[in-house]
Amino acid sequence: MSAGTSGRPVILDVDTGIDDMIALLIAATAPELNLRGVTCVAGNVEIHNVARNTGKILRMVGRGDVPVSIGAAKPLMRRLRTAPDTHGPTGTGYVELRGEDRQLGTTEYTAIPASRYLAAHVNRHPREMTIVALGPLTNLAASVMAGTDLEHGAREVIWMGGTLEERGNTTETGEWNACVDPEAAEECLSHSALDQMFPLDATQDVLFTMDDLRALPETHLAGIVRDAVRFYVAFHQKADHIDGAYLHDPVALIGGLLRPDLVTDAVDERLACDTSNDVYAAGSLYRSDADDRQPVRVATALDAEGMKAELIERLSRAVASPYD
Ligand code: BDR
Ligand code: CA
Repeated sequence: MSAGTSGRPVILDVDTGIDDMIALLIAATAPELNLRGVTCVAGNVEIHNVARNTGKILRMVGRGDVPVSIGAAKPLMRRLRTAPDTHGPTGTGYVELRGEDRQLGTTEYTAIPASRYLAAHVNRHPREMTIVALGPLTNLAASVMAGTDLEHGAREVIWMGGTLEERGNTTETGEWNACVDPEAAEECLSHSALDQMFPLDATQDVLFTMDDLRALPETHLAGIVRDAVRFYVAFHQKADHIDGAYLHDPVALIGGLLRPDLVTDAVDERLACDTSNDVYAAGSLYRSDADDRQPVRVATALDAEGMKAELIERLSRAVASPYD
């Protein structure tokens, strides 16, 4: 089976982003998935960088056929903050995916904005679409606010975001995707739009080192991935004094969709997101006793060795590019 039209229909929502890039490479080449579209949201970098990175990465693995939809350029209510220290000035670390490569052609972006792209697919294919959100939830929330019933209309919605017990990576108790757009996270949680979550408690179970990436084949695309991840590792060394990087987004994709057996612990929680003006609290998750919101299945632990092997194997296949 090759990646393409067979397999489980999925839309990825990304703020590409070094780890989003790896998730995209894996999703675009996974034989089990039918990637029906990628929606872009501002987060790690501004929306034009997200859209350009996403289009180029898809084309690098021969998936220029996947529609890319441009979404929210800023959070629902707050000013956008980006993460150039973590992801580099354009979102791909030491690599800049600028310029045109004639061999790859040009991306055709859909004219439909992301929130409507999500609505159209969910409404047209009730209970069929899986949505994997790997950035701030602005696009999903905008769709919900416009009347899209993700709770009943989607087959499953999976989000990499938040933290329960693990120390936050943006504030003491807040994770980046939740902190960038807390109102969007709360909108999705209060409408029971999320089925599964991969917070830092799970994604930080696996530390990837530059040594791990030596297993990738010697291709041009593997070089791009290594140069991007090298930046991520340098950031983690400086910020967290660890020799490696957490690849949150592909870990969530694999644990949520491709290898759920690698999730070794999970809890069902009714959650809410702090939307106060307190900069230390906004974006933090807390347990809610509102029984009109459905519990979310929250992964809290992973088989770290199994996850690392699975991710490296899938990434190796993805970067063995037909364009080398
Ligand atoms: C999340 O924030 C972003 O920096 C990453 O791409 C990931 O989605 C981790 O907190
Ligand atoms: Ca991301």
